[in-house]
Amino acid sequence: MSQTGGFKNGPRPEDGVRSGDLPSSDANESRERSDRGYDAWERQILDSLGGDERLKADEELQDGVRELVENYHKQRGMRPAPMKVRPPRALRSEGQHIALYLENISVSFDGFQALHRLTLYMDEGELRCIIGPNGAGKTTMMDVITGKTRPDRGVAWFTRKCNLLAMDEVDIAQAGICRKFQKPSVFEALSVQHNLELACSGDKSVFGCLVRHLTGEQKDARDRVLERIYLVDRRDVLAGTLSHGQKQWLEIGMLLMQRPKLLLLDEPVAGMSPQEVDRTVELLKELEGEQSIMLVEHDMAFVRAIAKKVTVLHQGTVLAEGTMDEIRNDPEVVKAYLGEEQC
Ligand SMILES: Nc1ncnc2c1ncn2[C@@H]1O[C@H](COP(=O)(O)OP(=O)(O)OP(=O)(O)O)[C@@H](O)[C@H]1O
Ligand SMILES: [Mg+2]
Repeated sequence: MSQTGGFKNGPRPEDGVRSGDLPSSDANESRERSDRGYDAWERQILDSLGGDERLKADEELQDGVRELVENYHKQRGMRPAPMKVRPPRALRSEGQHIALYLENISVSFDGFQALHRLTLYMDEGELRCIIGPNGAGKTTMMDVITGKTRPDRGVAWFTRKCNLLAMDEVDIAQAGICRKFQKPSVFEALSVQHNLELACSGDKSVFGCLVRHLTGEQKDARDRVLERIYLVDRRDVLAGTLSHGQKQWLEIGMLLMQRPKLLLLDEPVAGMSPQEVDRTVELLKELEGEQSIMLVEHDMAFVRAIAKKVTVLHQGTVLAEGTMDEIRNDPEVVKAYLGEEQC
C-alpha cells in the first residue's frame, strides 16, 4: 500500500458490501456511523493527495474492497456475492444534479488502450458535444455507458441510482439510456407511424405492433413526436422511402417514444443535407433540458451551432473541455485535432 495511508485503518467491510454478507453487529447504527466515518476518512486521504497519487489511491480503495470481499467468500466456499458499491461522494451530496458520472475509465483491447483514465461528468438536462479525431475513443466511451463494453477499471454511474458497471445492456436501456448509432436503423418496410409505435414500450414484435391498439396517451405521444421530427405529413409512407436525414430523425423519434433520460447520439447529422442539418439543430435545441443528450459529431459547423459545452477526446482521454471558443483557442486541442480545420 502506498504511503498515502490508503489502508492504514483497513477498508471496513460494511462500507462496500451488503449487510449480512460479512459479520456485523447493530447493522443500522453501525452502517450510519460507518458511512459518516468513511466519508471523512476517504475525504481526508484523497484531499491530501493530488494528481496521479490521488488516482492511484482511488484505485487502491476500489481494488482493496473488492479483494477483501472476494477472499471472504472464497475462504468459506461461498459464491461471490455482487458487491453493493456506494455512489461516489459527488453523487451523494445534496443539490447535485449529475446525470452521468464517468471516472478514470480505462478500456484496453488486446493491450491497446482505447480509453485511458477518462473522466467526464454531465448534468441532468445538459446537451454535451463530444469531438475528437478518429480513434479518439468516442464510440468506445458510448459502448461503456451502454454496457456493450466493460472497462478494465473506473467508475460509471447514471445518476446516484444506477451503477452502470453492475448492469447489463438491457437494464441500462430500461434505466433510460437510449443510443442512436451512426447508421440509421429503422424498419424500412413499415410506415413512419408504425416505426414509432413499435418503439413504444410494450409488445416489441412487428405483429404485436400491427394488432395492438394504442392508448390515447400513446397516440398523443406519437403525434407529438411526429411533429417534432418534421414527419407529420409523411406518417403513412414507408420508412424505406425517406431521405437519409429523415431516417435519422425517425430514429431519434423512436428513441423519444421510449422517454429517454439520456440520449446518446453518434454522428446524427452525418450524410444530411445543409437544410436537414439546420432542422436537426432546431430539433435538438428543443429537446435540450428535457433529457440529457450526449452527442458525438465531426461536423464542426453543427457543433458550433448547438454546443454550449464541448469535450475533446484524444487518445482515449479528455484533452479539453469548455465552450467552443475556449477549446478552439486551446493550443493542445489545436495541435492534437483542430490544426487544419481551425473551427
Ligand atoms: N473491438 C475493438 N477491438 C480492437 N480495437 C478496438 C475495438 N474497438 C475500438 N478499437 C480501437 O480503439 C480506438 C478507439 O476507437 P473508437 O471507435 O472508440 O474511436 P472513435 O473516437 O469513435 O473514432 P471515429 O471518430 O473514427 O468513430 C481505435 O484505435 C479503435 O481501432
Ligand atoms: Mg466512432
